[in-house]
Parts: sequence; structure tokens; C-alpha cells
Amino acid sequence: MKKTFYIETYGCQMNFSDTEIVASILTKENFLEAPSPEEAGLILLNTCSIRENAEQRIFNRLRHLKSLKKKNKGMMIGILGCMAERLKEQLFEEGVVDIVAGPDSYRELPQLIYSANESGKAFNILLSAEETYADINPVRIDSNGVSAFISIMRGCQNFCAYCVVPYTRGTERSRSADTILSEATTLFNDGYREITLLGQNVNSYHYNNVNFPELLSEVAKINPALRIRFATSHPKDLSDELIEVIASNDNICKSIHLPLQSGSNRILKLMKRNYTRESYMAIIDKIYSQIPGCSISTDIICGFCSENDQDHGHTLDIMRRVAYDSAFMFRYSERPGTFAAGKYKDDVPEKIKTQRLNEIIALQNKLSLEKNKKDIGKTFEVLIEGRSKKSAAQLSGRNSQNKVVVFTDDKHQPGEYVMVKITGCTSATLKGEIINSEVRS
Ligand code: SAH
Ligand code: SF4
Ligand code: F3S
Repeated sequence: MKKTFYIETYGCQMNFSDTEIVASILTKENFLEAPSPEEAGLILLNTCSIRENAEQRIFNRLRHLKSLKKKNKGMMIGILGCMAERLKEQLFEEGVVDIVAGPDSYRELPQLIYSANESGKAFNILLSAEETYADINPVRIDSNGVSAFISIMRGCQNFCAYCVVPYTRGTERSRSADTILSEATTLFNDGYREITLLGQNVNSYHYNNVNFPELLSEVAKINPALRIRFATSHPKDLSDELIEVIASNDNICKSIHLPLQSGSNRILKLMKRNYTRESYMAIIDKIYSQIPGCSISTDIICGFCSENDQDHGHTLDIMRRVAYDSAFMFRYSERPGTFAAGKYKDDVPEKIKTQRLNEIIALQNKLSLEKNKKDIGKTFEVLIEGRSKKSAAQLSGRNSQNKVVVFTDDKHQPGEYVMVKITGCTSATLKGEIINSEVRS
């Protein structure tokens, strides 16, 4: 068996972070990273189950990999992540999968590989109440060397009615603050300048009496030149203490991702989100008044069970009132095993879902453009991440508000901070001119 691996990652940032854990476990076992799937002895797909089309994408990929596997004798294919957890042995029925490993079983991966190599198939989908991979040093395989993710907790216990995550990721558990701080310090010493602390609901982080605002302010102390972001906050428990910590630390980015899902109180109740449009707006008002210039992004689901035109109108209304900087917008997709799948009817016709989604996207594009236009003439500190995707003569980075800023320059390198004056924009990007050299290093 060829000890080379290639990992493809789908889904959320959590999965990207897990891929780095898996790469670390395999590297320790003397597996080498292959430059392409064709050259790998082992192809791993780290998968997502959040919507039906996310799973469909993987089934299509597997059909493609089937022919690759036929050409390469001895090649093995493994499914990791949320689909592994949700579909279990069913995945072997595709006739191409050798290994199925759920999100809490990555330490067992080498054993699973050896056992599949000997006897055909192997799987482990046990969920754990304790596993946080705290002692594993992630191998940053797809990194730009500037920004990195750190998982601070795993699992989710919120059981929003539509969501599969509590079933695929299991019990919520937090990782020790010490190991998070030491990982962040190592990243800074290795030249990284931005870290994103990850969890399905970071507000409920707690480990030996350390809560999330306390953790955040400790991480902020590592170095003023290390930027800190975090995702995701749940609107049911975003505390005043958290807002205060963000406001009072320059290196904690002024950007909050606060998923709304729906602007209708009736739908929010059916979704089991535990907040109302009024309490959501109260948080938004607090953020805008206490963190001047803070950007706000969100997630929206349209066409949830029984959603009518009036409910949809409430969502559009909140979007306008908040004036989100950006949003991830989805059509509701029923997930087997969830509360909604068992108790409600997925009764909004696909055509209406699509129509509502298009309206939501059109409104958000307009809001993003209006928001970005307001930045023209302002100067921002930008952390350079690399060359712009569209033109190699341009550098690309982000400001504290998480907006992509592109500008022409040939003197600076990724990982440096520069001051950029905004001269133009689209709904997705700010364009600017560099006005002086490095501010922090
Ligand atoms: N923990 C995060 C969300 C993780 S999933 C939170 O609670 O905010 C990312 C997004 O996918 C969700 O915010 C939601 O907007 C969307 N999503 C989740 N389940 C979905 C479903 N069944 N259909 C459509 N979108 C869904
Ligand atoms: Fe899913 Fe809700 Fe947990 Fe987010 S908080 S992962 S939407 S159950
Ligand atoms: Fe998808 Fe699992 Fe993340 S379902 S969104 S990869 S937690």
C-alpha cells in the first residue's frame, strides 16, 4: 500500500480545521501528502451533511473516484466528517468506499487504514463526550501562512429543529484554555497574524471556569499584532461581557457573524432558536452603539416549514434594518432525523423557496454594495493575505471588518499590515490605494 494521502475538505470551517488534525495524525504515521488525487494511495473526503445538495456533491465525487480507483490498484478511499457519522455503513454500498470515520474517531484512522488494507473495509463512527484533539498539533496543509483556524470546542447541543449538526458532531465540549493559548502563541511565532476561534456556538465555551469573553481577552494579550476573529455566535446568548471585550481590544476584529435564520417570530419558534426578532434587534443595537464601525454578517434560511409571504417579509425587513455587510443564504433542506423532519411538513414548494431565496440574495447584494460604498474615502488597516485572484499585480487582504481589500503594490508581503485608503468597491470587494508602509509587524 502506497503511504500517501490526499484530503478534500467540504463544509464548514470546523471541517477545514479537522482536516489539519487528520493530516497531523497521518503525518505522524509516516504518510506523506500527495500533490494530487491521482498520485495518492489514500483519498479522504472530509464531508458535510448540512443540506441535501452538500451530500449529493459527495456522491457525484465518489462516482468520479470509482473510475480513478479502477485505474490505480491498491488505492483506498475514505469518508470522514459529518456524512460518515450520518450515513455510516450505508456509504460502503457505493462500492468504492473502504473507510468510514466519524469526526471523533480520527485518532483511530491509522488502525482503520491498516485494517481496511488487510480485510477490505473498516469503520468507526463512535461519538465522544470528551474528545477535543487538544494535544494534536494541526498540520496546516492548505495554509496561506497568515491566517489559521483554532477549534476551541466541538459538537452542538442546541438542536435547532432543522439542523443535523447535533447528530453528526455529538455533545458540546470545550477545549482547555491553556492548549488554545499555546496553539495561538505557536502560530504567532511561526509568522501567522490572524487566528479564528471556532465553535458551533462560541458563546457557550466554558472550561474550568473560563468563559468565552475571558478566553478571548487572554488570546488578545498574546501580541497586539495578532488579529483575532471567532465564529459562530448564537443570538440567544451573546453577552454584554463579550461586546465589551471586543470593543476594548484593538486586535479583536470588529466583525460579528450572528445568524438570524428568519426574521419571523413564528418561524424562529418553530426553528427552536430561542430568541425573537425584538431580542435579536436589541443585540444589534448594542453592537452598533458599543462597537462603532463593527460589521455584521449572518445566515438565513428561507422556505422553512409553513413559512408564508408575511414571514418572508419579516426576514427582508430585519435584513434592511440591520443592513448586513454580508450573508450566507440558503433554501431550507429537510434533514432526516431532525426534529423538523419528524414533526413538521416541508411544505413550501421548491419554486417558492427559490423565488424567496432570489429576493433575499438580491436584497443582500444591494445592502452589501451600499455598505461598501460608505467605506469609500475611509482608511483601513489591512492584513495582506496574498496576491489578488484576479490580477497578480494586486495584493489582497482583509480589514478588521472582514472585508476583502485589493490594492496595487509591489513592496509588501503576505503577513504585513498596511494602511489602505478605499477608492472604489463592488458588493463583494473594496479597492484602494496604499497610503504608507507597515504599521505593525
Ligand atoms: N452553528 C451555527 C451554524 C452552523 S450550520 C449557528 O447556529 O449559527 C451553518 C448554516 O447552515 C446555518 O446557520 C443555517 O443557516 C444553515 N443550515 C443549517 N441547517 C440547514 C438546513 N437543514 N437547510 C438549509 N440550511 C441549513
Ligand atoms: Fe445547528 Fe443550531 Fe447547533 Fe448551529 S446552533 S450547529 S444551527 S443546532
Ligand atoms: Fe457541514 Fe458538519 Fe460543518 S454538517 S456545516 S461539516 S459541522
